[in-house]
Amino acid sequence: MDFRHQLTTAAGVASVNADALLVVVIGNKVPSDLPAALSKALQAAIKQGDLALEGGRCLYVGQVPGVKAPRVAFAVAGDATPRAVRSALALGLAQFKGLGSKQLAVWLSGGGTLTEAHAEALATAGGDAVYLYRYTKPSAGPGSKLSRATLLCTRADEAAVAYGLKRGAAIVAGVTLAREVANRPGNHCTPSQLAEHAEELARTMKLKVEVLGRKEIEKLGMGAFLAVAQGSDEPPRFIVLRYNGAADSDAPVVLVGKGITFDTGGISIKPAAEMDEMKFDMGGAASVLGTFRAVAQLKARVNLIGLIPTCENMPSGRAVKPGDVVKSLSGKTVEILNTDAEGRLILCDALSYAERFKPRVVIDIATLTGACVVALGHHRSGLFTPHDALAEALARAGDAALDPCWRMPVDAEYDDALKSNFADMANVGPRAGGAITAAMFLKRFTDKLRWAHLDVAGTAWRSGAQKGATGRPVGLLTHYVLAQAQGGAA
Ligand code: BES
Ligand code: MN
Ligand code: ZN
Repeated sequence: MDFRHQLTTAAGVASVNADALLVVVIGNKVPSDLPAALSKALQAAIKQGDLALEGGRCLYVGQVPGVKAPRVAFAVAGDATPRAVRSALALGLAQFKGLGSKQLAVWLSGGGTLTEAHAEALATAGGDAVYLYRYTKPSAGPGSKLSRATLLCTRADEAAVAYGLKRGAAIVAGVTLAREVANRPGNHCTPSQLAEHAEELARTMKLKVEVLGRKEIEKLGMGAFLAVAQGSDEPPRFIVLRYNGAADSDAPVVLVGKGITFDTGGISIKPAAEMDEMKFDMGGAASVLGTFRAVAQLKARVNLIGLIPTCENMPSGRAVKPGDVVKSLSGKTVEILNTDAEGRLILCDALSYAERFKPRVVIDIATLTGACVVALGHHRSGLFTPHDALAEALARAGDAALDPCWRMPVDAEYDDALKSNFADMANVGPRAGGAITAAMFLKRFTDKLRWAHLDVAGTAWRSGAQKGATGRPVGLLTHYVLAQAQGGAA
């Protein structure tokens, strides 16, 4: 979908040339900046009891006398916050689903000044409205006809709207890539195929990419990563992506994505129910690809490195067993008490590998623990870091992107849970505080780094009727990386 803006006056909205017009009514009064024809239609709908001016309500009214666009819908936002406006946009866009309109004009009415965030909200709502997974489902059909959304704005708001749409379009491209990759089933997204996605992205966006195979991973000494990979017939891959948007002397931001293309649990096998969802266990990796897509599209002045350890976690005659002790790239030994706690094993070696880039910051993104879903549900990702300024910067980026996270503790007291009689540490602790002990495990490999961990187990995909990848946290990461490019200290 293409996003544009068009200058208009409030009165000019009625004569805008488009297949469809979506009016987002902000607040609980009929706005004074509505042209007479639209105001009349809105008041009639309210009077008839077809629409109430409450956030979350919307109405398709079709043709309106005096309005040039042949289809009109209203959607109500409770207030002018980007969050409320985005939900209204999502509802409003759904009104045009299945209709013939190709170009949609959008007018945000009654909210005063339009900001970058409002424009970005239109882009992300639009991207969500038209995304359709069809790679292994040809019967899904051709998808939405909507190919353009135009945000109507006044001269005073133009600069902010133009930039917000540009940033939003880049995030949509990144989110769409992340969703598409993460949605592909395990037999269509093996570690080698995930590496091919990275190579294709590198070709189209002119990035550098290196893909290491089993021999090279062995040579490096990534014993923890290899222990997970050894149970599978699919060979592991270690993907290194680079985007150079700043001087070579500029320390890079490193993103590390968990790339388990299917997590059976290994010998500590998972129950059958919902195991299919473990194809999404490479959502962290997919979000790294998506963030590269967005950042490269925006030509951000920053250096970015992406590290993706990717393999399957399978039971087999060669699989790692509970109690096995392996040596990580850091030299530290790990007793693998539970083979289902595999994410941290592949990530710890990638974190050690990150040291060689002398990064300004390292962020790992992982569908790491069911415990994080219990703690935070599906709204906020878990954020773990000992660095306060970094925590604030990531929380701010998440809020700005409407892709929020919530800080969790990493007190030294939690670290005791990982004691082992047979190795430097165990890979699991007791059930209680499981998302935190997972973070504490990773933290042991980050002494030389400014590091944060995002547990996206609850946010990277949806279950149930809407089952599918969300593309989160591409929005959060893109906002964070852009803030770095603008010289943010954290
Ligand atoms: N990929 C899972 C985490 C997960 C589970 C994400 C359910 C979303 C929903 C991870 O590899 C895992 O299996 N973690 C275990 C850790 C446990 C063995 C300490 C878990 O959360 O049960
Ligand atoms: Mn697991
Ligand atoms: Zn996993």
